[in-house]
Formats: sequence, structure tokens, C-alpha cells
Amino acid sequence: MKITFVGHGYVGLVTAAVFADFGNQVFVIGHTKKKIEGLRRGIVPFYEPGLSELVKKNIDAKRLTFTLDYAPAVAESDAVFIAVGTPPTKTGDADLSTVLQVAEQIGKNLEGYTVVATKSTVPTGTNKKVQRILEEMKPAGAEIDYASVPEFLREGTAIADTTNPDRVVIGTESKRAQELLIKLHEPIGAPILLTNFETAELIKYASNSFLALKISYANAIAKLSEAVEADALKVLEGIGMDKRIGNMFLSPGPGYGGSCFPKDVKALISIAKDNDYAFSLLSEVEAINHQARRDIVRKARKLLGDVRGKKIGVLGLAFKPNTDDMREAPSIDVISMLMNDGANISAFDPKATESAKEALPNISYVDNVYEVANGADLLIVLTEWSDFMEINFEEIKKRMKALNIIDGRNIYDPEKLRAMGFNYVGVGR
Ligand code: UGA
Repeated sequence: MKITFVGHGYVGLVTAAVFADFGNQVFVIGHTKKKIEGLRRGIVPFYEPGLSELVKKNIDAKRLTFTLDYAPAVAESDAVFIAVGTPPTKTGDADLSTVLQVAEQIGKNLEGYTVVATKSTVPTGTNKKVQRILEEMKPAGAEIDYASVPEFLREGTAIADTTNPDRVVIGTESKRAQELLIKLHEPIGAPILLTNFETAELIKYASNSFLALKISYANAIAKLSEAVEADALKVLEGIGMDKRIGNMFLSPGPGYGGSCFPKDVKALISIAKDNDYAFSLLSEVEAINHQARRDIVRKARKLLGDVRGKKIGVLGLAFKPNTDDMREAPSIDVISMLMNDGANISAFDPKATESAKEALPNISYVDNVYEVANGADLLIVLTEWSDFMEINFEEIKKRMKALNIIDGRNIYDPEKLRAMGFNYVGVGR
């Protein structure tokens, strides 16, 4: 099949590369010349394990082409996917301007029969709007069917999530579009759920918000466990053993971040409000998430007394491991609060140092975990990179000024560190 993706972020580029790898002829349309020129040489503008290799392999096999032009890619394609960003506006709604502009461009360039599908996360009702634009813009003789095909991949494991998803949701009432999209997704071998547009749109928001809810639930249980001297990790393990609950997304920490959960929870609250429903359950999910960040700072104040003038070393800046993405990273809030209190921060992240510099320009960035410890009064773990699991704590001990550690991701053995003389504080332990 010939297919086009408009957008080369995590969703667009990963899905395009995977579909190319399945043997399809895939075009990727972007609007930044420098990025497209880089992509043509296999340079991926963000870090995602395995992605540049997959992109290069499919460029070499002539199955993956990057372009700034809608013609002839759109005209030649059987299916065109919209995979551009929908960042939040100040009021929490999704900014749809790029999706709508892209729809116009696709519309103008259609030829013959094409299925146009949206992968971008868009509020209910948007797909009807996009369909109207496509119908208005398409030249005489062109025929379209429209679908919503939401994406469920995670950063850091994006390729595996795309080749092996729990489900594929295809939202369209056109039989012809259903058949084409089912055929395209066949090599994936995942269960397929057929729905209308609105249902597909809502599945995406409802999934992300439910996962965010699980994380906030874990953080609430962690807070309560600290108060009653229970071990939250055992409590959560205990509830996760119930198959109806499941054990995933129950790790407490500094709260969820990234480009999806914070934005999608906000957007679902806003969609509900527009439909006269106060989704206060989700407002509480957000409140607990903010509290989780503040709790790390509260623990630092408790350990150090006054943090003013103290040296705090931070391990991990990215919103999660295996990515350089700093969007809505808990580290930004935690570090900003500590700096407001007068702390001096030095930090190390295996991948996100460059991307962190914009949000956190006034901290010192060091090259490894041991340098973070030099002269530090406190170490705080904010991202659970596997590199941090194998630290030599004897070496850390020699370098630190005071042996305080806040393990914001519960990656270390408290007993072991306490036996070495550290004041260890985890989340919920
Ligand atoms: C999330 C969803 O998991 C994907 O299914 C979805 O496709 C994607 O959003 C999207 O909408 O595009 P992602 O944001 O890449 O994926 O990352 P997650 O692995 O879900 O983690 C999100 C945040 O939750 C991270 O900050 C992570 O540290 C935090 N988290 C996750 C916890 O604090 N505890 C957990 O138990 C799990």
C-alpha cells in the first residue's frame, strides 16, 4: 500500500517507519526544511531507542521518503494519516490549528479514492470538522472516507508498542475504509475494535486519563502509607495482584509528566465541562499529581532543615527513562521549587541534558552520577534510568557532604542504603 503521514513526531515518525518496515511505500510530510533534510539522511530529531536504525533501514530500502510537499504524496496514497501535535492552549483545550491547516492541504491534493485518518489526539467532534474541511477542499473527482485511528504508543518503547499493541481502534462507519485500514494493520496481528469517530476519540482520552488516575491513586496510597507506616509498594503489589486491577501504572513517584497525560487529563475535563459535566474525579487526579511533586520538596526541606545554600544533586531530568523529552517533566517543578528556596542544583541525565537547558537554564549540568554527588548535601532521584540502578554507593558516599537521599522513584533498597549510613527517604516506604 502507499501511505502518507503528515507529521514526524513520536507518533508520525514511529508509525511511518513501522508501516514502511512492513513493506508499504510511505511518505512523511513535514514543514521544517532543516528537519526534513536531516530525516532524509536518517537523523531523527528526538531520542527513541531503535528508531534511527529503523528509519535508516527503510530509507535505504526506498520505502520511506521525507518531503515538504503534499503533492504528489497525497495524490498517490491509498491512506493519509494526520499525526501532528495538539498542544494544550492556556485554557486546557487542545490547540487544533495545525490539524485543521493540514486537513486543508491534504484536501486540496487528493486524487481518486483515499482514506484520511487522524492519529493526533483530538477532542470529540473534531473529526467531523476535519471531514467537512476535506470534503470542501477536495478537487472534483476525488473521493474520501474518513477515520479516527488513535495511537497508544509510549515514548521509550514506541516501536514495540506499535508492532505489538494491545488493540487497534478504527473509528469509521465506512465499510470500505474499515477494510483498507484492517488490511494495513493486519501484520500487527492485534485485536481490532471498530467504532464511530466520537467513540474512537473518546477511547484515547479515557485511556490516558484512566492511566493517569491509576498513577495518582498510587501516589495517594503512598502518602497514606507514609502516615500509617505501611509499605506502599507492598500495598500496591497486593492490589495489583487482583487481575481486575492489574499491576501496571501503579508506581508512586513525583507524579506523571510528558506530552500526553497532563494534556489529555486537562482536555477531558474541558470536554466534560463543555458538555455540562463536572469531571471532578479527574480534577482530583491533577491535584494529587501536583501534590506528588510538592511532597519531594517537602521531604528535602525535612531532611535538610533549610535548603537555602545547600547543594542538591538531581539524578534524572527526563519525564521518564529512555527519552530526552522534558515536556511537563516533574523535574522542572521540583527543581524550580528547590531553587526558589535558595538551593544550588547540579543534575545529570543520560539523554535529556540538552533539552532540559531551556526549561532549567540556571542549574549546573554534570557528566555522570558521581559528579552529581560531589559536595552534595542531598541526592534526589527523579527519573528511573537503568544507569542509576548500578551506582557504586561507596564512591557516592566518599563524595557527598551529607548522606541524604530521596529516592523519588523507589529504585534502591532502603535497608542496604541505611546500613551504609544514608538517610534514605523513598515514596510511600
Ligand atoms: C502515554 C500512554 O502510556 C500511551 O499509551 C499513549 O499513547 C501516550 O501517552 C500518548 O498519548 O501519546 P507516554 O506519555 O509516552 O505514554 O509515557 P508513559 O509511560 O505513559 O508515562 C507517563 C508518565 O507517567 C511518566 O512521567 C511516568 O514516569 C509516569 N508514571 C508511569 C508513573 O509515575 N508511574 C507509573 O506507574 C507509570
